[in-house]
Amino acid sequence: MRRPTARSLAGVPALIAAAVVTTPAMSVPAAADSVVVGGYEVRADDSPWVVALASRDRFGPARSGQFCGGVVVAPTKVMTAAHCLSNAVLGKDAASVRDLRVIAGRSELAGNGGREVPVRETWVTPAYDPVTNSADMALLTLGEALPEDHVLPVAGPGDPAYEVGTAATVYGWGDTQGNGSYASSLRAARVSVLPDETCANAYPGGQGSRYAPSTMLCAGDPQGGHDACQGDSGGPLVAEGRLIGLVSWGSGCGRPDGPGVYTRVSAVVRSAGTG
Ligand code: ARG
Repeated sequence: MRRPTARSLAGVPALIAAAVVTTPAMSVPAAADSVVVGGYEVRADDSPWVVALASRDRFGPARSGQFCGGVVVAPTKVMTAAHCLSNAVLGKDAASVRDLRVIAGRSELAGNGGREVPVRETWVTPAYDPVTNSADMALLTLGEALPEDHVLPVAGPGDPAYEVGTAATVYGWGDTQGNGSYASSLRAARVSVLPDETCANAYPGGQGSRYAPSTMLCAGDPQGGHDACQGDSGGPLVAEGRLIGLVSWGSGCGRPDGPGVYTRVSAVVRSAGTG
């Protein structure tokens, strides 16, 4: 887990700040117009596969304890980012967080719509590297099954949904401005799949993070303004009705020179042998 810089975290509550993966050498204040900088409100019922990961013990009751996003990939399986389950985020082993829950069907975190389902088991892909943030994927096994119609199909290797220029939508309850303004309602932002070179140029490594195309996916808005942000991690990037990415990291939010980096789901699922 990379150390966030103080600057990129101004105003971000300390506990959520722990979830942030930034590039120290490149961190700059987020653009003011930055989803789910540049996003719009959506109803959880219209995108039932988006879920919130929550722990009130750790993150407090105000926003139902939300701290990351996730996506339903089978009735009892939720996929999320591995870094969401790190000690740095949870303050302890995921297995010892007693009230780790998935919240399905609740658009408004201040309310009590939808349902809360306990997480029975957590599994982080052995391919995950917390230093490089490569293969940032984990699976949660739920204590109760969600309806079959909550399941989002996962795009496999070679799926055309990964092609550069494909329109994609990212969902989450994260920061809407890049300054600690956490959304209370579910939001979505429209982005597109960007060439690997765009992220390789933006994130060349050295002092900062390095983009690794084999396990990561580059997406955003070349003009800036539409992006995922802090608190959206683990949430889905959806194209052509299929899951292509999980919110993983980026430099600032919505910056034209800091595209969003997502977990390339086809690659990590294959290497994990889960499908
Ligand atoms: N690491 C962040 C989190 O834990 C997600 C950051 C995504 N940033 C971006 N600019 N797309 O919530």
